[in-house]
Amino acid sequence: MKRTILITGGAGFIGSHVVKRFVRKYSSYLIVNGDKLTYAGNLENLTDIEKEKNYKFEKTDIIEKQAVLDLFEKYDFDAVIHLAAESHVDRSITDPDAFVFTNIIGTVNLLNASLNKWKNDFERKLFYHISTDEVYGSLGKEGQFTEKTSYDPKSPYSASKASSDHMVRAYSHTFGLPAIISNCSNNYGPNQFPEKLIPLAINNIKNNKPIPVYGKGENIRDWIYVEDHASAIDLIFHGGKIGETYNIGGNNEWKNLDLILLLCRIMDKKLNRAAGTSEKLITYVKDRPGHDLRYAIDSSKLQTELGWSPIPEFAQGLEKTVDWYLANTKWLERIISGDYSKYYDKMYSGR
Ligand code: NAD
Ligand code: TYD
Repeated sequence: MKRTILITGGAGFIGSHVVKRFVRKYSSYLIVNGDKLTYAGNLENLTDIEKEKNYKFEKTDIIEKQAVLDLFEKYDFDAVIHLAAESHVDRSITDPDAFVFTNIIGTVNLLNASLNKWKNDFERKLFYHISTDEVYGSLGKEGQFTEKTSYDPKSPYSASKASSDHMVRAYSHTFGLPAIISNCSNNYGPNQFPEKLIPLAINNIKNNKPIPVYGKGENIRDWIYVEDHASAIDLIFHGGKIGETYNIGGNNEWKNLDLILLLCRIMDKKLNRAAGTSEKLITYVKDRPGHDLRYAIDSSKLQTELGWSPIPEFAQGLEKTVDWYLANTKWLERIISGDYSKYYDKMYSGR
């Protein structure tokens, strides 16, 4: 079956895995990657598929209403998978505005363009919005987020994502726009920008730089391998029920410090360093303001209804990730040679 699908944010971390999966697996679909190419967008993430006939890149800023409308005029999209976002909590603390513009206004621009094109015939149309578990706020020691957990976002990032989720639900309820939302836990794997914990730590360990651990390293995240998120998105896109929400998680909770210690052991082995060398780099730094204590996702709805399950065991997934970063030194060096060092100094010098 032919389909024309707009994937926004396809040059970013998760988006690039989703674009590659769809381009390779569904040759009858035309996949249009609409991405502004911010600091986090990198077309190098897509070199394996960039010449495929069913793939097109369109440099688009979703904040620009007219640019979004023009894109919807140029292509007859029947579906949108919306991943474009500002995605880093620390940046949302230093510059919340960018999160409001892209995550809220950008999403509304896409909703308006979809509604405008589809309003007379919603048959076989889908607006699939990719969101985060952070909209649910922070957990104590017990419990997991389910699809029924009330929203309680705590950072400008999670508040902007929560707002966008509310707008998607409002368009679905008020105008009948066929929409699905999924909320996923922390992703890790190849192509992740080295501002997030795992790639930042890999890069610092490799370069014998301090590994900054916020607070006491006691915060807990539920980690999922990025290709497992992409496989869940594929299943939900094709089999999810319109109007529903699906939680996606790795069922894999790790305290930050334990995760870093595991990563140090893997890095010592890969870099032929004596056991215990890398963990000496662990440096406790000032905590993130408003730091959410714990996230954990109950993904039983997705597992039961659509038969999804995550694949690699964490140590294996982490090892695959380390191998990728060590093999792709050029990718990493190009990133850290640019604005990254300014970002790093600004973010970590005061800690
Ligand atoms: P990322 O920061 O790696 O990539 C974001 C992409 O969006 C980049 O390619 C960037 O160029 C693009 N973009 C940013 N602003 C844009 C704009 N105004 N117009 C067009 N494109 C723009 O993010 P990611 O980690 O791949 O996250 C993708 C999505 O998944 C986001 O919506 C995020 O909220 C969600 N999510 C991420 C995680 C995670 O752990 N990374 C977990 C759950 C949900
Ligand atoms: P991060 O990868 O930024 O994801 P999120 O904040 O969306 O969960 O951070 C993961 C956890 O690691 C979070 O508890 C903050 C912590 N962290 C550090 O301890 N040091 C760091 O340098 C970074 C970037 C994060």
